[in-house]
Amino acid sequence: MTAAGITAPVNGDRLWRSLMEMAEIGATPGGGVGRIALTDLDKAGRDLFARWCKDAGLAVRIDRMGNIIGRRAGADDDAPPVVTGSHLDSQPLGGKFDGAYGVLAGLEVVRALNDAGVTTRAPLEIINWTDEEGVRFAAGVVASGVYAGRFDLDYGRNLPDREGTTTMARELARIGYDGKAPCGGYPISAFFEAHIEQGPVLEREGAVIGAVLGAQGQRCYAVTVTGEEGHAGTLPMALRRDAMVGAARMIDGLNRLAFEFDPVPVLTTGYVQVRPNSRNTVPGRVAFSIDVRHPDDAVLADICLRAETLCRTIAEGAGLQVQVTETSARDSIAFDPGCIDAVRVAARRQGLACRDIHSGAGHDACNLARCAPTGMIFVPCKDGISHNEREATAPEDLAAGCQVLLEVMIARAGIA
Ligand code: GLV
Ligand code: MN
Ligand code: MN
Repeated sequence: MTAAGITAPVNGDRLWRSLMEMAEIGATPGGGVGRIALTDLDKAGRDLFARWCKDAGLAVRIDRMGNIIGRRAGADDDAPPVVTGSHLDSQPLGGKFDGAYGVLAGLEVVRALNDAGVTTRAPLEIINWTDEEGVRFAAGVVASGVYAGRFDLDYGRNLPDREGTTTMARELARIGYDGKAPCGGYPISAFFEAHIEQGPVLEREGAVIGAVLGAQGQRCYAVTVTGEEGHAGTLPMALRRDAMVGAARMIDGLNRLAFEFDPVPVLTTGYVQVRPNSRNTVPGRVAFSIDVRHPDDAVLADICLRAETLCRTIAEGAGLQVQVTETSARDSIAFDPGCIDAVRVAARRQGLACRDIHSGAGHDACNLARCAPTGMIFVPCKDGISHNEREATAPEDLAAGCQVLLEVMIARAGIA
């Protein structure tokens, strides 16, 4: 130990510089990042991360889901590794920190241990999980789900994009990340993920570290409303089977439905596709997404049942057809008490204000919790804004979260 509960000091400036350099890949005019999974920009971000891992002395492997794993040998290299990581892919108009922070904080842990000449007993692994966000493909967090045994490898590799024009495996091959290493299937000692909170709690309460207790349940649906195309000038209103009007009523109805529950779930339609999407044609088909989340799994199941009934009732009343397909479902999860406590202890030893917190967002850690003791470290996020180009976190808070990550990983891995 050096000062104030610190084993090896992380370099906050180096972490910040790495985050800013990564954010140049897919930089958006509004100051954010658009680096959607398995695009050429994602490839560029991956290439940079893989190069940084090699420069830091890590052995890099790519697994069957394209996860990039940088491994730092331990003195007892057969011991199960202590693993960290997050995701370099982003929302179309995302921020610089959602995901990238957890990946590059892991890298900074390794760089700091290298600087201090610390060898751990157990090996360490830093992972960039493929496609956490689920923007382009039908569901997110699938690659960590395969790793953790939640999904079959074939399901993950054959996952189609929304347009049904390609698959995860084809896109991995196209960008050169269709790896040969097995995806998961080996014991790990623990998984820790550092992430910005993406909500307002830590900032509002003046805390620097959130010890994450767990995450709420989530279900996603693809809804397709089918009517019939017609001429906007000649088809009388009473004769129309307008898929857009049906979809609009459903979306409004779903929003109202949410407010009938206590606590109110979060329910979002963020994706809409209209066919043929022409000013003067009555829309014949509209596809839209539903993302609904609630901390109580029984309440979530009830909301979903009522949401589906609502869509069917509206379709029937308007002479439309509707297909509602579940695209992903995850129950609420609780993280490992020992990992949660390790975060609290590390924060306390560094004199950092820490509070327990629940995650509204989903994370790869939610999958890892199925196969290993898992914990998360949250740092504040300005005004609680995320999935937004304006997403911001103070460099000193990022450094503090990274130092806590280092300490919990070392506590688990042991020093040789
Ligand atoms: C991940 O960004 C999520 O949807 O929670
Ligand atoms: Mn994220
Ligand atoms: Mn996100």
